[in-house]
Amino acid sequence: MALQRSCESPRGFRRGTSDGAATSAAAPWEGRPGPEGAAKEDLFAAPSQRTPAGGPGQGVARVQVRVWGGRPLQGTVTVSPAKNAVLPQLAAALLSAEPVRLVAPDLGDVGAMCDLLHLLGADVRRGAAGALTVTARGPLATDAPPSAMARMRASVLVLGPLLARCGRATLAQPGGCAIGRRPIDLHLMAMRAMGATVRERGHLVELRAEGGLRGGDVVLPYPSHTATENALLAAALARGTTRILGAAREPEVQDTAALLAAMGAEVKGAGGPVIVVRGRQALGGARHIPVPDRIEAGTLLLACAAAGGRVRVLGARAQHLGAPLARLRAMGARVEADAAGVTLEAPERARLRPADVRTLPYPGFPTDLQPPMSVLAALAAGPSLVSETVFDARLGHVDGLRRLGADVCVAGTQAWFTGRALLRGAELRALDLRGGAALLLAALAAEGESRVDGFCHVARGYDDLPAKLRLLGAEVLPEEGPPSERGEIAHLVTRP
Ligand code: UD1
Repeated sequence: MALQRSCESPRGFRRGTSDGAATSAAAPWEGRPGPEGAAKEDLFAAPSQRTPAGGPGQGVARVQVRVWGGRPLQGTVTVSPAKNAVLPQLAAALLSAEPVRLVAPDLGDVGAMCDLLHLLGADVRRGAAGALTVTARGPLATDAPPSAMARMRASVLVLGPLLARCGRATLAQPGGCAIGRRPIDLHLMAMRAMGATVRERGHLVELRAEGGLRGGDVVLPYPSHTATENALLAAALARGTTRILGAAREPEVQDTAALLAAMGAEVKGAGGPVIVVRGRQALGGARHIPVPDRIEAGTLLLACAAAGGRVRVLGARAQHLGAPLARLRAMGARVEADAAGVTLEAPERARLRPADVRTLPYPGFPTDLQPPMSVLAALAAGPSLVSETVFDARLGHVDGLRRLGADVCVAGTQAWFTGRALLRGAELRALDLRGGAALLLAALAAEGESRVDGFCHVARGYDDLPAKLRLLGAEVLPEEGPPSERGEIAHLVTRP
């Protein structure tokens, strides 16, 4: 399986300078501004009608960060739209010949998905304040280029839309973080249940549904997040009714169903274990602001719990963070939630209580917050157990925590932390997205200076996390690494 291990500059997004100013780095798909005549306060307004936002979102492409830790965090920060909602929603735009407009975070995986949509024949345009407009008027290419597929796991999300709209799709195994086995058998099973034939040819998978997909029962033996979304997207254009049984219940699935409904689909039950979709012959365009990123919100709250202080995270939805907030409270943090966001006051370090954390599909403790939560386990005043049940190799960050001074023993997918670690700055390397974020949090909690290399992994999934942490008083500076570290790749698409 192709796993993305190297650092790749997120293309199509602003590349910052060391003083935080963004430089223009137009992506191949960038073109004319957004729609004329939009309302003044409309987030989808054309660039000429809206002042581009400053602050977070600048300079995401740096490959290493330098951190001066040991300072408590203080202040207010706003979360971005959820990466894991925006990616399926960008793929959903392939279902319609009309424009789909989204507000998207400024991060590498969104750039990778835009590149992929462009390669498939969609027109992708960026407006102000994160607005992206995708128009897949057609005809669309149905062979997803392997190099584009290899850039991230979520590229598999084009499968359902291509098959539903064009009756065929050929793709290579998707890439993604090296956190364990990540087969796509459940995605293929879902497509078969809707009448597709699947043929594996070397590293390629060819799917056909020449007469179009037809509704059926998709029974998922495990609530895979993106397999549920692929089934949902495909079902929206399938003939008849599809039931997705054993569906993933993540808020991002529900939010994607909301976009589909705005496009004219009939979807019931999203957010629960059974989703029923009545397919339509065609879908229209839509505008949508995706749900706030609960993983980014959780990461920022955990950063404060680790480094100390008091932060308010605007946009964080407590109802989407049930398990992490319960764990933070149990560990001694003061957490208050209201309609606008979540405020966390960290306990004194010596009073941070140990915890047992076990990851599970939503509404259980999210696997994406397990690495950041491990930082608290290292610091807590006693032994903690962290069990990863979703992925089979998601403890890669533990080596970095050890370098900082954590006392931890790993057995399979479990990590036993002794606690009471006095963390000291070190040279660290991010190996994957959430593990890299965890190392940044640990460096904030450590005394002295640290450097985190391989930070491009983190920039793939967070909208300029260093800048958001700086808003909270953290000393985190992005830096260019040496050219060999930058790992810049040849552009997949030549610019027009
Ligand atoms: C999504 C999220 C990712 C998160 C993960 C689990 C996106 C873009 N990514 O990834 O951030 O960490 O959910 O919450 O939304 N599996 C199979 N066969 C399949 C599909 C999955 O065996 O066909 C297994 C995987 O190997 C893994 C488990 O199911 O062990 C969970 O994977 P899944 O829920 O599919 O994660 P993703 O959708 O890839």
